[in-house]
Amino acid sequence: MGISAILLRLVKKGAEADIYLTTWDKKKSILKIRKRKEYRNEILDNRIRTLRTVREAKMISEVKQFGISTPLVYFVDPKKFEIYLQFIKGRLVRDLSNKMIIKTCEKIGRIVATLHKNGVMHGDLTTSNFILSHNKLVILDFGLSQRTERIEDHAIDLRLFKEVLNSAHVEIVEPSWSSFLKGYGKIIGMQRKEQVVMQVSVIEKRGRYANVV
Ligand SMILES: Nc1ncnc2c1ncn2[C@@H]1O[C@H](COP(=O)(O)OP(=O)(O)O)[C@@H](O)[C@H]1O
Ligand SMILES: [Mg+2]
Repeated sequence: MGISAILLRLVKKGAEADIYLTTWDKKKSILKIRKRKEYRNEILDNRIRTLRTVREAKMISEVKQFGISTPLVYFVDPKKFEIYLQFIKGRLVRDLSNKMIIKTCEKIGRIVATLHKNGVMHGDLTTSNFILSHNKLVILDFGLSQRTERIEDHAIDLRLFKEVLNSAHVEIVEPSWSSFLKGYGKIIGMQRKEQVVMQVSVIEKRGRYANVV
């Protein structure tokens, strides 16, 4: 076993990736490694993992120009499906008190609207993908993000977030959702907000999700 293995500490075994705490250039770092899915054809699986690794690293860096806080990308190895990220100290929004979650949802709304305004869909908006760090909200996990201006795609982001509130924060769904929409509207404008929210209802009525690759 090499020395690097000794310095790795597994933080989280996710469905898609394993997350390790390590160092990069003496700085505390998160190593995200996308895992092989055995049920997927190997060539296709490699292609998906490479695509998501590259996409994530690119988007995490690109959205900084919109004023959005994301971890620094220290290093990417698409062949090994690895990304080294700046370690963000703080707490996941998921683990905050209900009162704080409600308050933070407005900031989440602003961040999501800023992404949408600049033609970026996040693709995986959960409360585990935001870290409150020194009063600043940092957004993570851009592996499923896409460049798109379409109302339908932006509505998918909102619909997923609403679904997450419904399952992980059921006792505060209403105030959290209004707080989110308040922040979203402030940045995107009332007219566009109404259009996106209308589209969310359309998706809900249809009762199924559009597929995102
Ligand atoms: N840069 C980071 N700093 C601190 N914690 C992180 C960082 N990146 C990921 N994490 C932690 O690892 C978890 C999973 O990372 P994420 O990128 O969301 O991968 P997944 O695709 O498994 O959801 C996050 O919810 C967070 O707790
Ligand atoms: Mg995540």
